[in-house]
Amino acid sequence: MQKIWIRGGRVVNADCSQVADVYVEDGKIKAVGAHLQPPSLAGVQVIDASNKLVLPGGIDPHTHLQFPFMGTQSKDDFYQGTKAAVAGGTTMIIDFAIPQKGCSLIEAYERWRSWADPKVCCDYALHVAVTWWSDKVKEEMKILAQEKGVNSFKMFMAYKGVYMVGDLELHSAFSQCKQIGAIAQVHAENGDLIAEGAKKMLSLGITGPEGHQLCRPEEVEAEATLRAITIANSVNCPLYVVHVMSKSAATVIADARRQGLAVGYFPYSFGCYWHSYQTLKVQVKGKVVYGEPIAAGLGTDGTHYWHKEWSHAAAHVMGPPLRPDPATPDFLMNLLANGDLTVTATDNCTFDICQKALGKDDFTKIPNGVNGVEDRMSVVWEKGVHSGKMDENRFVAVTSTNTAKIFNLYPRKGRIAVGSDADIVIWDPKATRTISAKTHHQAIDFNIFEGMVCHGVAVVTISRGKVVYQNGVFHVAAGDGRYVPREPFPEYVYKRIRQRDQVCQPVPVKRAPYVGKVIAVAAEG
Ligand code: URP
Ligand code: ZN
Ligand code: ZN
Ligand code: ZN
Repeated sequence: MQKIWIRGGRVVNADCSQVADVYVEDGKIKAVGAHLQPPSLAGVQVIDASNKLVLPGGIDPHTHLQFPFMGTQSKDDFYQGTKAAVAGGTTMIIDFAIPQKGCSLIEAYERWRSWADPKVCCDYALHVAVTWWSDKVKEEMKILAQEKGVNSFKMFMAYKGVYMVGDLELHSAFSQCKQIGAIAQVHAENGDLIAEGAKKMLSLGITGPEGHQLCRPEEVEAEATLRAITIANSVNCPLYVVHVMSKSAATVIADARRQGLAVGYFPYSFGCYWHSYQTLKVQVKGKVVYGEPIAAGLGTDGTHYWHKEWSHAAAHVMGPPLRPDPATPDFLMNLLANGDLTVTATDNCTFDICQKALGKDDFTKIPNGVNGVEDRMSVVWEKGVHSGKMDENRFVAVTSTNTAKIFNLYPRKGRIAVGSDADIVIWDPKATRTISAKTHHQAIDFNIFEGMVCHGVAVVTISRGKVVYQNGVFHVAAGDGRYVPREPFPEYVYKRIRQRDQVCQPVPVKRAPYVGKVIAVAAEG
């Protein structure tokens, strides 16, 4: 284990910044303070961080590395994907174990562990998807939460016939999440409407990537988002909406967080004492819902689907699609800055052009997914901080701290503090880099952010107390990262949920029994 003394940087947490040294030993942060003096300098690597920021390593809560999907497998595997992540200043990812319908969730979890454990270059965790419903699924969710460190389950409202679940299944899954102290996640798009829309586009002769956007306009995402929020709220289950891609869906989330209404019947009478009860609309400000925009949606837009070169257009195909309204990235960033949206991810799920070509004659067969795991931190810095929309503290909140809080990793992750894991990025806010497929470390030959000049560059990345990336040079080893189990009932989320359970509990009205006549109903048959 390395001993590292980071000197003279500006240490940035979500709540404050201070100029301080950071001392790291045994994979942990041992001291933070001005002018530290390590016990001995023997074997200590000294890193000068003056004029730089010292940030908690980024946490990307949404990746799909080596994901078997749409007849192929995503190109970035757990080695290359996490290697690219650390180059960009991300030191933890949360990937998804996704069982086929009818298959075991635990087996999917074990399979993903067996793929990831030997390959990861940084720490990781797993969400597990619920793609069907049965008593066995319900039981397995409990086992995963209690014994396997999984406190988040994702349900797809799209991918009809493959992963999609209906409203009743959502209700069952959300109820079980609530019971076991997990976060429910949704891919919010109306899968029925997409399937019908796709048929229509093909019948009109639209076979190219633009059909992917045309068959799933914004309202298809917004409707599903509102439906998921409504169902989750009905069972008081915390909800996390992955890849928020449109202004409409983001607005649905913002409204729900600001105006959440819980209707309860309370045994009070007030004002009018002739009434033995009063129906109250209890204003519980804001529903417990979190929105996750991704680097792609913040950094580019869906006008590319109309690009004349098929492969360029296809490279941007992901679900929900990037939106053709060019004001979308700015809008999403504004909501992220003001707190309506909560975290940033990438949905990194890369396919090279030959894989995308599976859909050369039919856009419904183009494997869905784009890059982002390497570039998220720089894109968010450029579009968020350099633009003046958010400060360095909000940047930390949306790139690591909030994710750590929601998924119960905080303050082990997402904070520079004594006792936290030494997952640290030394960030040069003044340096720039130009994103390009020619220089990136991802497994594909295309980058959706090609040519974007970003202020904000990770100059040193430390994972588990080891320098894994420094000035363009990697010191990674496959399997150096660890699976990080997560306890259920994260306080950050469940404190509010528990309180709501108490104050929003409906109670029956106390009244004298009805003693009047009842009409006779003829017996059936
Ligand atoms: O297009 C996407 N988003 N691919 C990955 C799978 C998913 O829906 O998240
Ligand atoms: Zn999705
Ligand atoms: Zn383009
Ligand atoms: Zn995804």
